[in-house]
This record gives sequence, structure tokens and C-alpha cells, in this order.
Amino acid sequence: MDIIHSVADLRERLQREPNNVFVPTMGNLHDGHIQLINIAKPRAACTVVSIFVNRLQFGPREDFDRYPRTFEADCKRLSEASVNVVFAPDEKEIYPEPQTYLVEPSDLQHILEGAARPGHFRGVATVVLKLFSLVMPHSAIFGKKDYQQYIVLRDMVRQFALPIEIIPAETVRAPDGLALSTRNAYLSLEERREAPLLYQVLKKAHGEIMNGARDFQRIELHSMSELADHGWKPDYVAVRRQVDLQPPRQGDRNLVVLAAARLGRTRLIDNVEVNLSH
Ligand code: PAJ
Repeated sequence: MDIIHSVADLRERLQREPNNVFVPTMGNLHDGHIQLINIAKPRAACTVVSIFVNRLQFGPREDFDRYPRTFEADCKRLSEASVNVVFAPDEKEIYPEPQTYLVEPSDLQHILEGAARPGHFRGVATVVLKLFSLVMPHSAIFGKKDYQQYIVLRDMVRQFALPIEIIPAETVRAPDGLALSTRNAYLSLEERREAPLLYQVLKKAHGEIMNGARDFQRIELHSMSELADHGWKPDYVAVRRQVDLQPPRQGDRNLVVLAAARLGRTRLIDNVEVNLSH
């Protein structure tokens, strides 16, 4: 496994690898990330993983400074997962000058996560476009855990006609249902015991829709009050169309219930797809 820190070294190393698949990350790797790598491996001769905590996608009051950085442990896991190239640039490599050219995603960037985190998806899309132009992969893997991020990036690649296949990966969960996330480390023991409720609420909404419920607003409100009753501060629970995250229209079969809620100081997100049979 080659660990590369500079853009120049990366370009030289990848000149020999016309066939590579890419997994972008911010490090502090867990089994969710490793699953993406396992999906990537059989798809190309060379698997490239980036580790870069992207300041551009964090709001001024968010956790950029305290975001866990665990480079040594990450490299050990990546080596065990037989990754070929790790690209771990510092900020000056990715942003040698202020990044004044930015990718402006569609209005999708302003709803759901975007409403709670202004500028977040602009920062994500900008760094991913930049990483794509450095790595030049033929495919890239993204987790459905960050559903809206996956949709924003899939649409970016389509609209800019980038020759890159975007492959979604299912959400990896702890045995009690909590979606794995770097931010779970912020939870106290007591909060960690409470945290699986988010997934339970989503599963319940899923069950109701599968059983024929179509009053989505009632489901959303009911789910939010269940979270609030247990001391959470929900930002949203929303039933949306998978294809564009807009409210469902009559006859839509492929839905997704998305949620974000604060438990103490930690903001957790999760979602569950609902596929109604035809
Ligand atoms: P990060 O949060 O490190 O996540 C990297 C990738 O792992 C993303 O595609 C994310 O959706 C996926 N992932 C995280 N937890 C997962 C889980 N429990 N199951 C499945 N996949 C999971 O997302 C980012 O970094 C950044 O925004 C990035 C795309 C790297 C741009 O900076």
C-alpha cells in the first residue's frame, strides 16, 4: 500500500493505473468505510482511498476542529483491507490558494441537511470534484448513510458528464441498529444507549408506509414527537422520493424516510428506503 501526501506524487503514481476505483473519506475509519472498500476492490486493479477532513463543508460552529483524526489506525485498517493507494493530503495540497471557484449544486442543496447546514453541499461537491480530477477514477463508491450527499454527487457527475460511475452502498449498522458514524464517538454512554431510537422510529415509519399509510405528514409529525418525547431535538423526519428527495407524488413507489436529530450535543442522521411493490 502506498501512502501519498502530495498531488504531484499522486499524479505520478496513478499514471501507471488507468483503471482505478475511488473511495473518498474523512478518515476515522469504521466498518461502514471498510464496506465501501470491499465493494470497490473487485471493480478495478487499483483501489484509491482519500483521507481529507474538508474544512469547506463544515459550518463555522461545526466540529471541524474536534473531528477525530486517527491516521495511524486508519492506515492499518486500509492496509488490512488491501487498499493500493492512500491519498492523505494536507490542506495546502488541496487548497494551495483560497478556493474561490466552487461547485454550486441545485436547489437540492438547500433542503433537509442543507437547510440545517448552509453551504455544506457546496463544500462537499467542490472537494469531491477536485478529488475526482486528481484521482480520475472510473468509479467511486458512496454510502447511502449520507443519502442526500449521494444524490447531490450523483447528479453533479451526470450534469457535468464526468466519465465516472457513482456506486451507492448500503448503510452499515451496529447490532442494535445505530448507523455507524464517526460522530457516534461524541455520544456519552447514556446517549449511546438511547441512540438506536432514531433507526427504530424510521423502521416504524417504513412499516406504516408498507402497510398502506399515505398520510406522510402525520407520519413525519408522529415520528418527530416520538423523538422529542425521548429528549431528542429533531431537525426533520421527512418522507421523500428517492429520485430527487422531493415530496412524494401520487403513485410514487420508491420512497425514502430521512431523519436528523440532536441527542445532547451530537447531531445524528439516518434514513430508510421504502420500496413499494408494483
Ligand atoms: P465520511 O463521513 O468519512 O464518509 C465517507 C464515506 O463513507 C461516505 O460515502 C459515507 O456515506 C460513507 N459512510 C459513512 N458511514 C457509513 C455507514 N455506516 N454505512 C455505509 N457507508 C457509510 O462523507 C464524507 O466523509 C465526506 O463528505 C466526503 C464525501 C469524503 C467529502 O469530504
